[in-house]
Amino acid sequence: MDDLREKYIGQIRDAADEAALEAVRLAAVGKKGEVALKMRELGKMTPEERQVAGPKLNALKDEINSAIAARKAALEDAALEARLRDEWLDVTLPTRTRRVGSIHPISQVTEEVTAIFADMGFSVAEGPQIETDWYNFDALNIPGHHPARAEMDTFYMHRAEGDDRPPHVLRTHTSPVQIKAMEATGAPLRAICPGRVYRADYDQTHTPMFNQVEGIAIDRDISMANLKWCLEEFCRAFFEVDEIELRFRASHFPFTEPSAEVDIRCSWEGGTLKLGEGDDWLEILGSGMIHPKVLQAGGIDPDQWQGFAFGMGIDRIAMLKYGIPDLRAFFDSDLRWLRHYGFGALQAPARHAG
Ligand code: DAH
Repeated sequence: MDDLREKYIGQIRDAADEAALEAVRLAAVGKKGEVALKMRELGKMTPEERQVAGPKLNALKDEINSAIAARKAALEDAALEARLRDEWLDVTLPTRTRRVGSIHPISQVTEEVTAIFADMGFSVAEGPQIETDWYNFDALNIPGHHPARAEMDTFYMHRAEGDDRPPHVLRTHTSPVQIKAMEATGAPLRAICPGRVYRADYDQTHTPMFNQVEGIAIDRDISMANLKWCLEEFCRAFFEVDEIELRFRASHFPFTEPSAEVDIRCSWEGGTLKLGEGDDWLEILGSGMIHPKVLQAGGIDPDQWQGFAFGMGIDRIAMLKYGIPDLRAFFDSDLRWLRHYGFGALQAPARHAG
């Protein structure tokens, strides 16, 4: 009996895992285990012998069982310890900042422009990139013979042989969306219309596809003063320069009367552009009071309503704000360029602090 105890208690102590422990349990106190076999031998004993051996065997069985339970608990504790050690992680570590892809400067700037005008109560309107010549030209007071049509380097869509309807065009500006917005909501109206436009032109500052944002505000007494305030407010917020100065230069557009081109004061000292100081002026947009004929084309009564409009190159203001020298690089899809000039997905668009 002492040999049995020594043997099994030793094996239990040495069992390295739960499977080994179970094997020891079966060999010792399982139905066919050594202790069970000894129990069976009790029958052959004399009653006196049995009285001594019986309780001893039972005690041995209990002792082995509790040693197994204790070892099992110890093994489980050790396994849990090991798991906790292996799976430990420091939840206070900073997150990884490696970027997966980046936001194109055009998308970022469009978001910024949208955010700033949204603060001034402008909603966003969109229109198709393939337009009828009516929306792109006629409705904007550019009739068929008007030189502005030729100046725009328009891409005309192909028509089937024998179809003499005027061809569709790739819109040459975002101004046709003015008309669509007027038709959709009527007056009063405040909207910006960002999007792609197309012209057959290509050099360092021109690409056949580029981006514009149109703005319109129509109400009973909107004036040039509102236009000026709005654009100044926008430029301060967008360029993040408080001392911004704009110059309104009399100009001509068929869809506005009066019309003005807007320049921003800047300096090129040391080859770097600074806004709001210096003696140079950089043109950033065209604007004016919406021509009565244009209001009419959009279904709005020019005797009741008036408004301003402006059109701005998104690519151009992106180049100015982020110091990007060549417009063509915007559309090259060069990964190194995108990594350098792109934005992280969580970088919020800049908002006016004031
Ligand atoms: N559509 C003009 C262009 O693409 C820009 C423009 C000028 C838009 C004056 C306007 C405006 O709304 O009032 O060159």
